[in-house]
Amino acid sequence: MTDARYRIEVMHGVNLNLLGERDPLHYGTLTLPGLQAQIAAWATELGLEASFFQTNAESEYVERLHALRGEVDGVILNPGSWTHYAYAIHDALELTGLPAVEVHLSDVRSREPWRRLSVIGDLCLATFSGKGPEGYRPALQRLRDELEEAGT
Ligand code: DQA
Repeated sequence: MTDARYRIEVMHGVNLNLLGERDPLHYGTLTLPGLQAQIAAWATELGLEASFFQTNAESEYVERLHALRGEVDGVILNPGSWTHYAYAIHDALELTGLPAVEVHLSDVRSREPWRRLSVIGDLCLATFSGKGPEGYRPALQRLRDELEEAGT
């Protein structure tokens, strides 16, 4: 897409490559490629260009965040279980200086207590949790609103 005004990176973390095989009660039945295709379509509708990244290595996730500086205008993160303890990801996200939104397919507040803590939440404009794939649509919208308001 050439006329998109803003570039958004959507970053999936550990175990999210196995969407479609993980518990459908929490994560639904879409595979990661299927989810990404859906997000890309919503992004296009909103005048955004989405790029995607997934890894099961925390160091690669951190390095991708470092590389995003100057490459994109905003970032959507679903770090999987790293969300709950990976302070290195918090610090790398802070270093990007990018507007960020957190998404979880499942409702992390109503599951095990250890899922209630997000170490990136304080850096995010909003968190969408428990809405399944639908959560990515308001996340994109929130980032677009933020970028438009900032006039970047
Ligand atoms: C998740 C929630 C996390 O607690 C879990 O470890 C995941 C996926 C979600 O999208 O619901 O891997 O981030």
